[in-house]
Amino acid sequence: MSTKAQLQELIQTELRGIKFIVVSNREPYIHNWKDGRIQCSQPASGLASAIDPILRASGGVWVAHGSGSADVEAADASGRVAVPPENPSYTLRRVWLDKKLEREYYYGLANEGLWPLCHIAFNRPVFRPQDWESYRTANALFADAVLEEAGDGPAVVFIQDYHFGLLPRMLKDRNPKLIVAQFWHIPWPNRETFRAFPWKEELLDGLLGNDLLGFHLRYHCTNFLDTIDRSIEGLVNTEHFDVTRKGRVTVVRPFPISIDFDEHVQDATSSAIEEEVERWRQRLRMRQSGVELLGIGIDRIDYTKGIPNRLLGLDLFLEQHPEYHGRVQFVQIGVPSRIQIGQYQALNDELDRLVEKINLKWATGNWTPIVFFKEYFDQHQLIALHKLAQFCVVTSLHDGMNLVAKEYVASRADGDGALILSRFTGAAREFPDALLVNPFGIGEIADAITSAIEMNPEERRKRMERMRRAVKDNNVYHWAAKILSALLKFELPAPDTIGEFDPEH
Ligand code: G6P
Repeated sequence: MSTKAQLQELIQTELRGIKFIVVSNREPYIHNWKDGRIQCSQPASGLASAIDPILRASGGVWVAHGSGSADVEAADASGRVAVPPENPSYTLRRVWLDKKLEREYYYGLANEGLWPLCHIAFNRPVFRPQDWESYRTANALFADAVLEEAGDGPAVVFIQDYHFGLLPRMLKDRNPKLIVAQFWHIPWPNRETFRAFPWKEELLDGLLGNDLLGFHLRYHCTNFLDTIDRSIEGLVNTEHFDVTRKGRVTVVRPFPISIDFDEHVQDATSSAIEEEVERWRQRLRMRQSGVELLGIGIDRIDYTKGIPNRLLGLDLFLEQHPEYHGRVQFVQIGVPSRIQIGQYQALNDELDRLVEKINLKWATGNWTPIVFFKEYFDQHQLIALHKLAQFCVVTSLHDGMNLVAKEYVASRADGDGALILSRFTGAAREFPDALLVNPFGIGEIADAITSAIEMNPEERRKRMERMRRAVKDNNVYHWAAKILSALLKFELPAPDTIGEFDPEH
């Protein structure tokens, strides 16, 4: 286990004199105009919330797309702004993209192409040639910003996610001295799926510009190596988990991401949290309705999250268990996301219809079974909700990791609460004590809700205790320290020490 202090020490001793530059599309802090004033907030992104504590600990520069309506005004002439606003500890360097570029590179190639391709959630990917052109252009714009930030000195560049498949090669070609690592936060599909990608040679060559390429799971690493083996020239070493291309080696490793466990515990046990819990009780009118048991789901509204199936599972549970009518309520928080894309709009409409239908079917007196909040809540508010909920439901059809599951567990410092978790999340590998479900199986979800409610408290506590131990031991600082150590070539974890691939999973 590593703590924030240990990570800081590692960075201070090992990275001394070396610039640390993180790159992601989504910025960690966004400035927007609201009622004539500039307001700063943190966007709903597991990635952004996982990397922010690391940069706070390390200092350095985070290069990201400036997408807020007041981002230009809040930054200096070069797009730089010190963050977090309340206690500046690193620099956010914003890259400006015009609307066309944003539409084609971000909404188009990244989110209508690579996102469905990699998740294999039965949503067909769309590949438009002009989106690929813009993806290239956007990657080149980010390369300019990174190279400017790196200057002539030694620098480590840590790239995040599927928006930047071409960036590593661009950086290496222009400055071979840079150490470049990338973490792919979403799954990597099997080679049969990936072969549908029309520009696969160029994308794979781009990724092999990395010195180190990380995925959540060993399974995704294996898929990647297999894809390389079948698609482009390069020597794949399945024993060492690396690829040699053009005389250079890219090491491929699993690093399961996590959260700041201690921060969650601190907040969950603070005196301020009780007021927030009370605000939730009032917001949900729990006293008036007589609800005794609360279940929660918290997601970006995304088709990979399996929200309709979850609601159908709840519907079936209500059908099978009339004795819980009036006593159990489900709170779904859905943060609107990528709403310019048709498939996301359709999902939003589907959810509205479904919630209305289920509520109409079962509501009585003061009780409605589902409360749906289509808005963003900050971490403190979510921790309060975690504390109030007897069970949390995560039913992603496919998810690289899923940090909501880890956040729920971390918030339950009281040792209570049950987690219903899709088997098709990375998190399921660390949580054998969750109530694991196939998210396509509505009946399994209904049964898991019953088990979560009826499980004997002793058993529930034991499971929660073991899950809490897993998050405590592998927190986000541990994740970052492992990647940094690997990067600095101290200690590349041998592939055979990392959990075997379980094809049933
Ligand atoms: C996933 C991706 C992140 C992304 C986040 C939110 O977690 O891996 O890269 O930031 O979703 O999506 P958005 O498109 O709003 O950034």
